[in-house]
Amino acid sequence: MSWDALQGATVTRSGSAVESDRFGLTIGRVVVGDQCQEPEAARALTAALDDAPEELLVVRWPTRLVTLGAAAAASSRAVIPADVLVYWEVPTSTLQPDPAALASDELRVEVPSAADDASRAALDLVVRDSFAGYGNHYTANPRLDRDLALTGYLDWAGRALDDNPQDVVLLHHRDQPIGVATLTTGGDGQDLEILLAGLTGSTQGQGWYRHLLAGVGEQARARGCSRVIISTQVHNIRVQRAWARSGFRPFGAVTTVHAMRRPD
Ligand SMILES: CC(C)(COP(=O)(O)OP(=O)(O)OC[C@H]1O[C@@H](n2cnc3c(N)ncnc32)[C@H](O)[C@@H]1OP(=O)(O)O)[C@@H](O)C(=O)NCCC(=O)NCCS
Repeated sequence: MSWDALQGATVTRSGSAVESDRFGLTIGRVVVGDQCQEPEAARALTAALDDAPEELLVVRWPTRLVTLGAAAAASSRAVIPADVLVYWEVPTSTLQPDPAALASDELRVEVPSAADDASRAALDLVVRDSFAGYGNHYTANPRLDRDLALTGYLDWAGRALDDNPQDVVLLHHRDQPIGVATLTTGGDGQDLEILLAGLTGSTQGQGWYRHLLAGVGEQARARGCSRVIISTQVHNIRVQRAWARSGFRPFGAVTTVHAMRRPD
């Protein structure tokens, strides 16, 4: 979820038609904004969970608000802990390309100029390969089909390409697409956020991910963004090691739970 969508001083509720259609139950979202304070946020959260009509609410709050777990549990819903997202940042100037390493490993960074078939196929291939079996908040909920969670990632990445091909950075090895990052600009134009990024399984473990991050750095510079941000589930230690190697540091944590309406 983008960092911008987590800002604000209120508890907000919204429906999620795309996810409801995908998973076959009514799904909504509740976000406790990053500027909220206890105990008002706790009261508003319990009320939001009691009032919402959807069968499943995907609920997010700043992890520092440690009383909100109890507030969610005080509602009429069954609460499933689903994940903690950690957000990392790096100054754009830190992400610099390494042309000599790119050339010696036969790697190439590409930003598509159009949402053409080749770019879509490359995006699809890499997301399918790198995110197959990935543990996320959907897979924490036994009521949801795991395979459809991957479909969700594919749709999300495809929408980035359709909306703006420049929001996609591809990494190729020789003629093969092996890495992808999808982007959104936030923070009033100061942040370039990576929404989704990965390498195909067989190309991991060689230090090639940093070239994808450097490609994102080039995009950030072209847009005048001073900071690149990214997030993952806290259990994804591997990618956090890679970010630390590339100069990122953590700056935020957000808890996710699924709040299920109990049967009448
Ligand atoms: C995120 C992801 C791209 C990281 O891949 P990765 O291969 O671990 O990252 P790198 O390319 O930086 O490779 C680093 C690893 O290769 C090893 N390595 C081998 N040769 C290397 C070299 N020349 N330079 C740097 N590292 C090298 C390192 O030891 C390191 O492993 P370690 O962290 O266990 O020490 C990959 O795990 C992935 O696609 N995961 C699925 C999707 C995902 O989790 N995305 C993040 C959430 S959006």
